[in-house]
Amino acid sequence: MKLHLRVWRQKNNDTPGGFADYDLNDVSEESSFLEMLDILNEELIEKGDMPVAFDHDCREGICGMCSLTIDGNAHGPERATTVCQLHMRSFKDGDTITIEPWRAKAFPVIKDLVVDRTAFDKVIQAGGFITARTGSAPDANEIPIPKPIADKAMDAAACIGCGACVAACPNGSAMLFTSAKSSQLNMLPQGKAEKDTRVIGMVGAMDEAGFGNCTNYGECQSVCPKEINLDFIAKMNRDYAGAKVRRFLNKAG
Ligand code: SF4
Ligand code: FES
Repeated sequence: MKLHLRVWRQKNNDTPGGFADYDLNDVSEESSFLEMLDILNEELIEKGDMPVAFDHDCREGICGMCSLTIDGNAHGPERATTVCQLHMRSFKDGDTITIEPWRAKAFPVIKDLVVDRTAFDKVIQAGGFITARTGSAPDANEIPIPKPIADKAMDAAACIGCGACVAACPNGSAMLFTSAKSSQLNMLPQGKAEKDTRVIGMVGAMDEAGFGNCTNYGECQSVCPKEINLDFIAKMNRDYAGAKVRRFLNKAG
């Protein structure tokens, strides 16, 4: 298939960016979107031009590195699909495809299509872990956990930290990510001991990093490649309110 690409090029965050136009011929429908960009980069390198910088690692939908806005959609046109798992058969011969980086204040552009997602790391560092020594891996059934709770915690743990939810949200909110990452631990016995400090810390780090608030647009859920549910945001709000009340009562007592 023949494609016309409009690709965002930007030297760094201090330099204004703009779209560059490229034509590609003979793109296989079977190739992935990132393989198509590899072909573009090979052609650019052969011509002596600077290749397009874009993030990727596993190319299997598990690491959360790939991060492109394609024709206005974070991760492209397919539901529940990361960019690395998107195939060119989702497009038509002769299509013009517009490719941009995540657009969010808290994710500054590093170069071209690569953004700095350190803000997510800061949210995790503020509570996305348990401090108890866990030793070697325990038997799976050592701590009995009701199946519905284990299932729900696994649903939350499916978040790969890609940042599409932030890029799609008109407020640039990280509530879906933060709620998934706090809930996956807060729901399990091993994470309960630090439930309150975790949620207060992670919400505080999220606000400090410059992410916006949630006003229930729901765009985050619709672009999430792991189909993280908005219910987790409601759960995080409940956890946060409860934690604040308990902290106040403890201080008052
Ligand atoms: S909630 Fe979904 S869209 Fe947001 S970071 Fe996690 S996997 Fe990506
Ligand atoms: S490159 Fe790892 S999820 Fe896409």
